[in-house]
Order: sequence, then C-alpha cells, then structure tokens
Amino acid sequence: MQITPLEKLSLDSWGRSADDDASRSANDDASETVESGHILHLPRLAFALLPHETRFLSERWSDGRSKNITLRSGEPTLRGTSGADDDLAALRAMLERFAAHSQALIAALFPRYAQRAVPAHVTFRPCTIAGRASSVRKDDSRLHVDAFPANPTGGARILRVFTNLNPDGEPRTWRVGEPFPELAKKLLPRARRAWPGEAALLRALRVTRRPRSGYDHLMLELHDKAKADDLYQRRAPQERVDFPAGSTWILFSDQVSHAAMSGQHMMEQTLMLPVAAMRDPETSPLRVLERMTGQPLA
Ligand SMILES: [Fe+2]
Repeated sequence: MQITPLEKLSLDSWGRSADDDASRSANDDASETVESGHILHLPRLAFALLPHETRFLSERWSDGRSKNITLRSGEPTLRGTSGADDDLAALRAMLERFAAHSQALIAALFPRYAQRAVPAHVTFRPCTIAGRASSVRKDDSRLHVDAFPANPTGGARILRVFTNLNPDGEPRTWRVGEPFPELAKKLLPRARRAWPGEAALLRALRVTRRPRSGYDHLMLELHDKAKADDLYQRRAPQERVDFPAGSTWILFSDQVSHAAMSGQHMMEQTLMLPVAAMRDPETSPLRVLERMTGQPLA
C-alpha cells in the first residue's frame, strides 16, 4: 500500500539565502521532493501575527458564504469578508505579508521555480473544518486532487504553501492518499469525455475564464469522481497526518491526494508553475494523463 510520504526540513525562517552551497544542494532536493508527489513539511516554520492581527483569528471575519478570505493577485479587494475599511486594510496587509513570505520561501527552496512560479492568490481560513456543511463536490474532507472549475490551468501545476496559525495548539488534520498515477488508474476509466464544443460553450457562458483544456476537464472529473465515490473514500490507501500549529507545509495539490479533516485558522498561498519549469515534467499530472490516454491534453 503506497501513501504520500512526508519529508521534513528543519528550516525556521521564510527567506533563507539561496546563495550558499549548502542550501543549494538542499534546494535541488526540495524540488525533487514535491515533484515526486511528497509533502515538504517545515515543522519549525511559523507565521508570526502582529499583536493587532490576533483579533482576526475568529470566524466572524468570514462573510458566511465563503469558507476562505481570499486576495487574488492583482485585485484590490478581499473576497469572502466584510467589515470597516481600517479592519479590512489590516486584514489585507496580513494576507499580503504571508504572500510575500511564501514567495520568498519558494524562491529560497526552489531556485529553479523562482522566475517561473506565478502567485495566483493567498487565502486566510478562519473557519473550522469539522462539521462544515457543503455539497459532496465542495466537501474537502473527501480525498481529492485539486482542480479549478472556473480557472483552467492548461496543465500548469498548483503549488501551495500552507501554515497552521491555530493559537490553541490545535493541529490541521489531513488524510493523505495514494500517489497520483494510482488514483488516476482507478478513476480515469470512469471519467466522462468532454462533449464536442463543451469548452467553447463554458467559456461563452463565462463559467470558465478561459477555454477548459482536455487536461482541465479530466482533472475535474478525477476530483469529482474521487469525492463522489464512498468506497474509494473508505478503501483507497490513506493515512492521517497532523500538521501542528506553528508549522508550514508545501505540496503540489494537483498531485497529492488529500482531505482536510479538522483544524481552524490557516494561511495558504497558491502559485502556478508551468510544467516546463519543473525538474522532471514527466512526473506532472499532465504528462501522466497524456501517457494514460495516448493524447495531447493541453
Ligand atoms: Fe484540496
């Protein structure tokens, strides 16, 4: 039974210099770690809140409709929250600081990604996971790989940095599942094929921001089929992982099968990485699915 491995790195600062030789060899290892579908865990790397920011550790900052408070790159306003202007400015500054820290961390750990990884959005997640009502498709407590319904990636990788901010020492508890090729082998045969003209229609209806590639269609099918399958949820190889408060972890969430089971108060930065910028593009979900289907998908 194969489970997604966790590799630990005892780094405790966000912007380690990539210049010295010792860190450069560790850097090469870091891209190999995440590209092979492992989670890079930094148990000593915390995100320190400023004294006036601790008030944001409360569900009341959520607007109740969205589970995350989100700042998309290039957008002026936060999504998923409401409040007085000065509160929102402080909240936004907190998200921007985490985004800057995460980008510095990615540049330090993955020099080969530094120029090519494009920040997409940063989120603050003040709501508790346990007991959150949602549809099966939106239920992130079911094992899945990430795929964006409205924002097709065209094959680009979803690289994510997570930090558990919980002030009471509560871990962020995930289940992690089997390697991507194993998941795809089981679920791809049941994937629906895209209808002719489907991508153009979704774009015209503004369901998607750009045409959905064959790759994006199949990734959404894998996401939905995994979540909808009770037997897969129970029987797929899996393991519980607790990410302690005050720790950070990095992974390609389009590759690592994961389910968020419990926890509250987390920061997350998403970056998009072109497949061509990888150390080994053959490990990407795009190339795995192209080999399995025998077709170019993006
Ligand atoms: Fe996810």
